Amino acid sequence: MYGLTGFGLGAYAEYKCMKEKDSTYGCLALKPGNISFEAATVAAYGGLLAFQYMEKANIRRGQNVLIYGASGTTGTTAIQLAKYLGATVTGVCSTSNLAMVKSLGADAVIDYTKENTTDPGLQYDFILDAVGKNKTSKLKDACKRALAPGGKYISIDDGSLKLDSGRLALIKELVEAGHIKPVVDRCYPFEEIAEAHRYVEKGHKKGGVVVKVN
Ligand SMILES: NC(=O)c1ccc[n+]([C@@H]2O[C@H](COP(=O)([O-])OP(=O)(O)OC[C@H]3O[C@@H](n4cnc5c(N)ncnc54)[C@H](OP(=O)(O)O)[C@@H]3O)[C@@H](O)[C@H]2O)c1
Repeated sequence: MYGLTGFGLGAYAEYKCMKEKDSTYGCLALKPGNISFEAATVAAYGGLLAFQYMEKANIRRGQNVLIYGASGTTGTTAIQLAKYLGATVTGVCSTSNLAMVKSLGADAVIDYTKENTTDPGLQYDFILDAVGKNKTSKLKDACKRALAPGGKYISIDDGSLKLDSGRLALIKELVEAGHIKPVVDRCYPFEEIAEAHRYVEKGHKKGGVVVKVN
């Protein structure tokens, strides 16, 4: 099984009792058979957030989609999901992540540390801000102005994470079919948990960071 316990906080633990049915305390589904447990944790967290916000967009084949923050846990999944849905996808990230975001299927990438504007001839039907409202740049403002008439702009901070085993089951299918590959940045042993937190708090993880409790 794989799943998510939500944002109940509390301690890291080796075992956790979970309800079989979805609740505010968590959701569970069968784990994708072709990936490790470490990768499955990234698929669950990034996947649930990406699916929840992308579903709101009702993306159709051929639409122009921009993912701002394409290299984080949600962004790396959102890029792949938008491609799977048939969109033409632009990813925004910093210089060191351009190649990784391209490798996930992005048709175009923009470096927010170097560019302040988007292509003037291009408008986006859907823009997902996958890094949240606290992280911004001149390029982010330019992206908002590049929204097509009738287009939708959603921030990952608009609403809270829904724990949904149905979505987890769908993520499993897409992972097993090879449409979505979870990106695991680093995997820390439990003994190095302080270091894991320090790394994540820098705010530049590539995909997800995992802590392994033996
Ligand atoms: N709605 C909810 O329930 C919910 C739940 C969880 C999280 N969130 C939101 O999701 C956000 C993202 O969380 P996360 O864990 O995926 O990622 P994170 O670790 O907070 O962010 C990682 C990514 O942010 C990018 N980034 C940092 N500053 C940026 C900037 N100014 N412009 C563009 N990209 C920037 C980094 O890319 P580069 O290294 O390429 O710069 C990195 O890939 C959180 O900050 C929070 O606001 C919402």
